Amino acid sequence: MLKTERLELVGFDVQYANDLFELWSDFETVKYTYTPLMTTIDECINLIEHQINRTDKNFMDRFVIILNQKAIGMAGCICMDKENMIFGLYYQISGAYWGYGYASEAANAIMHYVLNKFPDAIIKAEAVTVNPASVAVLRKIGLKQTHIEEKGFKRNSFELDLIHFSNT
Ligand SMILES: CC(C)(COP(=O)(O)OP(=O)(O)OC[C@H]1O[C@@H](n2cnc3c(N)ncnc32)[C@H](O)[C@@H]1OP(=O)(O)O)[C@@H](O)C(=O)NCCC(=O)NCCS
Repeated sequence: MLKTERLELVGFDVQYANDLFELWSDFETVKYTYTPLMTTIDECINLIEHQINRTDKNFMDRFVIILNQKAIGMAGCICMDKENMIFGLYYQISGAYWGYGYASEAANAIMHYVLNKFPDAIIKAEAVTVNPASVAVLRKIGLKQTHIEEKGFKRNSFELDLIHFSNT
């Protein structure tokens, strides 16, 4: 578990299914991510179990974000390339909790947790150009824009330009 000033970052657990359903059943929250839009709690439980199975056994690489005992989002920093130690950082916060700095607080803590463990880690992240809040989070935690990939994000029928960020 990681602790920040206001948040606890804990492992995935089905006890958070109802809270995470609020997150994953809201199209506004998932539309710029690859998380499917959910309509039942069972879909949510399946994704939580999938996340538990994919969690790195050697260190925590994905977290549920807890505020006052409620799961308000999820975030992670996943090793995508072990040889070159490249990690991908991501986050999602339930709509009712946007604008309070929670994504930045969680993302910053997780990024530094990875960098403490793997000082040479390359942290990458991306946000679509039409998601200024996510772009602001990545800038706020100190990542630098590397390039823009035209139509780099594809979800169903829409394609959006993607801004890539890195710590190097
Ligand atoms: C993007 C997201 C994680 C931001 O969460 P959050 O907790 O509200 O983020 P924070 O409060 O830490 O920071 C948001 C920043 O964006 C800024 N921001 C918000 N809306 C903005 C806008 N329309 N234009 C410019 N900046 C904006 C805020 O001012 C804030 O920056 P500041 O602290 O310097 O003022 C949240 O909106 C979310 O979960 N969205 C859906 C999932 C998603 O898009 N995930 C990222 C996929 S790349």
